Amino acid sequence: MKSYEALARVYDRLNGEVDYAAIADFYEKAFARYGIKPRLVLDLGCGTGSMTLELARRGYDMIGVDASAEMLSKAYERMWKEGVGGVLFLEQDMRGFELYGTVGAVVSTLDCVNYLTGDGDLEKCFSLVHNYLDPDGVFLFDVNTPYKFENVYGEQAYILEEDDGSIFCGWQNDFDGETGLCRFLLSVFTEEKDGRYVRLDEEQTERCYSREELTAALEGAGFAEIAFFEDLNFSAPADTATRWYIAARCKK
Ligand SMILES: C[S@@+](CC[C@H](N)C(=O)[O-])C[C@H]1O[C@@H](n2cnc3c(N)ncnc32)[C@H](O)[C@@H]1O
Repeated sequence: MKSYEALARVYDRLNGEVDYAAIADFYEKAFARYGIKPRLVLDLGCGTGSMTLELARRGYDMIGVDASAEMLSKAYERMWKEGVGGVLFLEQDMRGFELYGTVGAVVSTLDCVNYLTGDGDLEKCFSLVHNYLDPDGVFLFDVNTPYKFENVYGEQAYILEEDDGSIFCGWQNDFDGETGLCRFLLSVFTEEKDGRYVRLDEEQTERCYSREELTAALEGAGFAEIAFFEDLNFSAPADTATRWYIAARCKK
């Protein structure tokens, strides 16, 4: 199955430990550090809408862009269920999206940028983000670090399991240091009402980007005041950081 087609069914349950409110706090602190008060915010690679809806609840007008119809349909369902109206969800590719106008800030949460795997994809995406940001607007995103690809993902296999046994996910990684590509082979077993388990297989690929590559792509697209952090407290990254939170200002 294609990326996130199978995983969309179980994504929120498997990601239950992610503290989106804490990440949203970080985004708001970053807005203040950069001296901006965005009204309209784009959530790029919004997935099932966890961050989009969190920011909408905080009063921002939100646009969510994602390439997966399955993930977006969960986001749309959640918007109504959680009583957060008015979010514009668009099924578009991060490498070729179109908006009606500019936004004050762009956020992209949980390594969406690592899914830009082709040569030139990073540059295409960053240039569009720059194009749709207001002058002095801010781009906030995070990536899995080279340390994580080399030392945590590597050739490892994991099992993720829901406490109640309703989901069982086998996860195998295959990282190629030459190409920087990491393949994830996922087998998701979900329990049906009659107690049978249905298996869905899916393959995903992420690309490892160095700090230098990310900085060059941001600068090339017209960003300045680029900062890398290791955590949500704005700490400078250690060599062993597994995630970088990156902030950059759009210069026009
Ligand atoms: C790890 S999920 C993160 C989802 C969401 N931001 C969150 O924090 O839960 C990565 C998301 O990126 C999306 N994605 C991957 N490649 C994409 C592309 N080229 N264009 C748009 N979305 C993409 C996937 O569909 C998926 O929803």
